[in-house]
Amino acid sequence: MRAPTEAFAYRYTHYGDADVLKRHHYPLPVPGPGEVLVEVISTAINHMDAFLRNGKEDTWRDDPWPRSSGSDFAGIVRACGPGVTALRAGSDVVGHTRTGAHASHVVVPADQLVLKHRDIEWEVAGGLFLAGATALETLDDLRIGASDTIVISAAAGGVGSIEAQVAKYRGARVIGTCGERNFDYLRQLGITPVKYGDGLVERIQRVAGGPVTAYIDNYGKDGADVADALGVPPGRYRSSASRREVELRLLRDDPDSVAHATQVLQRVVDLAGTGAFRLLVSGLYPIDDIVDAFDDLARLHARGKVVLATHPVTRVRTLRAREVFERMP
Ligand SMILES: NC(=O)c1ccc[n+]([C@@H]2O[C@H](COP(=O)([O-])OP(=O)(O)OC[C@H]3O[C@@H](n4cnc5c(N)ncnc54)[C@H](OP(=O)(O)O)[C@@H]3O)[C@@H](O)[C@H]2O)c1
Repeated sequence: MRAPTEAFAYRYTHYGDADVLKRHHYPLPVPGPGEVLVEVISTAINHMDAFLRNGKEDTWRDDPWPRSSGSDFAGIVRACGPGVTALRAGSDVVGHTRTGAHASHVVVPADQLVLKHRDIEWEVAGGLFLAGATALETLDDLRIGASDTIVISAAAGGVGSIEAQVAKYRGARVIGTCGERNFDYLRQLGITPVKYGDGLVERIQRVAGGPVTAYIDNYGKDGADVADALGVPPGRYRSSASRREVELRLLRDDPDSVAHATQVLQRVVDLAGTGAFRLLVSGLYPIDDIVDAFDDLARLHARGKVVLATHPVTRVRTLRAREVFERMP
């Protein structure tokens, strides 16, 4: 098979819904000194991609147009620029980039890549960076350990499902809020499910069996009031707004931030590789169905992650874990 001479990336020229993303073709780039050309195999979508694209998040308002999309990817090294010694063509890698991962190829500095563990499936590998790193940063910040009883909101979602499993892996007792459709999913991870909505405080108290020591609110609605009513110390509550700050920090491109993000990514990959958590990819879309994938995420009922694949994904595989569950009699 001849090596491709062309690459593509999804770009947009103005703020808007996912349909502003257009496939843009360009000659296959050549990596410069210290850089690596990676053929993307899988690349996740995150709410932050949508917030940046639709103008809700304006931290990057001075970025030039057109803009690209996507921060998480996994793929195969196709070429290394001068001075790259730690990787070689053919290495399987997981990477992060401030933006531009929704593409057939990316060129990134070698220090934004870590080796993919053989046991991590491609579709999972592409979903690890922003959700996994946000989860670890938040758990580290709260110093979650074996003496904790922690409540995590949206515990079946992208970030929540990783936070809940890693907190459990650290020995904490974990209560996760979700809809009833996700009770079985959380239970099989050893997490106590509680339905969100009116009466949440009482439902949590009923299952907690003691004080709740920490609370992570991914969903961002009533978390502060619920945590307060549960008696969670203010220093051990993290809001959806603090999650936003964590995510934006992980995407910064100054050298210290990049080095830190790579270190956290390495830990996420190691934890996934050793089975400390299992990332469920319940929506795996062909990259050209990127609009459908963002629509799916925006419905706010994803279980685990929604991921794009650059290589053929059949329609049957597009929505797997959720369909299997929801079609059961
Ligand atoms: N503040 C920020 O800047 C920021 C940044 C990123 C994400 N977010 C927000 O964080 C949330 C989670 O994102 P994610 O990527 O981790 O998850 P996700 O993959 O979008 O999953 C959404 C999850 O939210 C759950 N959910 C739906 N309605 C809920 C409610 N009223 N209360 C609690 N959970 C509910 C769903 O559970 P069921 O299907 O069981 O209902 C689903 O598992 C989203 O709402 C997103 O907008 C905020």
